[in-house]
Amino acid sequence: MEFRIRPVCLGDAKDINELRHMPGVFENILGIPSERLKKTEDWISKLDNYTHEFVAIITDESGSERVVGMAGLTVFGNSRLRHSAGIGIMVHREYQGNGIGRKLMETLLDIADNWLMLVRVELSVFVDNLKAIELYKKLGFDIEGTKRKAAIRNGEYIDEYVMARIRNT
Ligand SMILES: CC(C)(COP(=O)(O)OP(=O)(O)OC[C@H]1O[C@@H](n2cnc3c(N)ncnc32)[C@H](O)[C@@H]1OP(=O)(O)O)[C@@H](O)C(=O)NCCC(=O)NCCS
Repeated sequence: MEFRIRPVCLGDAKDINELRHMPGVFENILGIPSERLKKTEDWISKLDNYTHEFVAIITDESGSERVVGMAGLTVFGNSRLRHSAGIGIMVHREYQGNGIGRKLMETLLDIADNWLMLVRVELSVFVDNLKAIELYKKLGFDIEGTKRKAAIRNGEYIDEYVMARIRNT
């Protein structure tokens, strides 16, 4: 499957908002059913230099672009945490399993390793999100611990793993 990765832009907001509401994505991220398009637009327009946000794009025959994935890396603002960042990622349900998630993650890790020279990249993932956990492990992340009842999902409290990747310096 052909896709390309580029930095996010304001015009991506509608597609991103749809992704965040989509079954197959929604249950594994911290969205809420009432989330409005305006929230996504505001979030994109307020992105600062600490956040490096990318989208995966496919282009149809007429040349119009569609966002089928998104991933971002946010460097922590506290001076003593500046060697660390957090990561978030999602891929459109119908396009999962085509290497888009891996490419988005590799894009973030290239920035982390080679352009920011970060030491620690971390994330949280629901303990039953096996697909994501497998992807993270393949890219060098280890499970550091379990946050019990860390989030609400469809009427239940669910545990999260904290995972991190330490770059050997
Ligand atoms: C997790 C997610 C980002 C992976 O993206 P993707 O585009 O489907 O992943 P890829 O096709 O690049 O696959 C990457 C790896 O994931 C694993 N994977 C993919 N599909 C899998 C499946 N059905 N079962 C188990 N592992 C699977 C494989 O280890 C694969 O490794 P490979 O690159 O050596 O083949 C995507 O499934 C997703 O957006 N899920 C919903 C939202 C979400 O969970 N976000 C993360 C919250 S922490």
